[in-house]
Amino acid sequence: MKAIILAGGTGSRLYPLTQVASKQLQAVFDKPMIYYPLTVLMASGVSQLCLISTPDDLPRYQRLLGDGRQWGVSIEYREQSKPEGIAQALLIAADFVGLDSVVLMLGDNIFSGGDDFPRAISSFEGGAAIFAYHVKDPKRYGVVEFDGSGKAISIEEKPCHPKSSYAVPGVYIYDNDVLDIARKIKPSARGELEITDVNLEYLRRGKLQVRRLSRGFAWLDAGTSTALHEASAYIEAIERRQGVKIGCPEESALVRGFLGIEDFEVLIGKMPTCEYSDYLRSVADEWHRLNGEK
Ligand code: G1P
Repeated sequence: MKAIILAGGTGSRLYPLTQVASKQLQAVFDKPMIYYPLTVLMASGVSQLCLISTPDDLPRYQRLLGDGRQWGVSIEYREQSKPEGIAQALLIAADFVGLDSVVLMLGDNIFSGGDDFPRAISSFEGGAAIFAYHVKDPKRYGVVEFDGSGKAISIEEKPCHPKSSYAVPGVYIYDNDVLDIARKIKPSARGELEITDVNLEYLRRGKLQVRRLSRGFAWLDAGTSTALHEASAYIEAIERRQGVKIGCPEESALVRGFLGIEDFEVLIGKMPTCEYSDYLRSVADEWHRLNGEK
């Protein structure tokens, strides 16, 4: 399984923050927003990643994430010169996907809690798997409607009259047929290749699985300054209460075995003294305690 992270767009709703760095590079409490989706993917065992962004922002992501080797994964980069829809990411990264299955994840979707994504990725057997999350304002999203037996029967992109309160978050798991499907869809009225049209094609073929995320699961939006602040406050509250961090790629790399403990400690040694490196040091200490060393 490979993964594409789409971190495009202008982030105009976060102006003036986005004058100097794109939306997905903004801080969500103590780390850049992009760390959260990246960590979800790594925690799910995905180690071949491709990040797509604008020509202006791509060098900034490269500076932050490098080629992924420091975390035992590989990160490639591709440009989206014009924001022409989420499904365009599949076309831009088609050569990266090759003959594999792929998870497409939006760089501004922040999740916390549960193991729904790792489970869906490890048990994926073909077709498409997407998710549904109960929200108060479904109009802003792709909306999925279920029949009485819990089967998905329709999906609409930003409907004026939503048929349910279940929004589709920005995590989409596809088999390799998605490349052909993405090549065939046409731009919508807003001039974009809609990911909803890709999902509708899988629904038409009877190959779309929609998994409902549980109530305790948090899917946070960070599209406006207020939402960004709320997302930060949420992450801070959970991290402070639990004493564990959300969205640390280094920690996921260790847990998933992409990095051994020696390399993990070398990585920490290169960081300045700060809360982040203190936390990772505590993760290393815990690792040694559990493994009966030191
Ligand atoms: C996009 C998708 C929408 C999905 C949402 C999740 O919306 O088009 O179906 O529910 O991401 O974040 P957009 O980012 O274009 O508002």
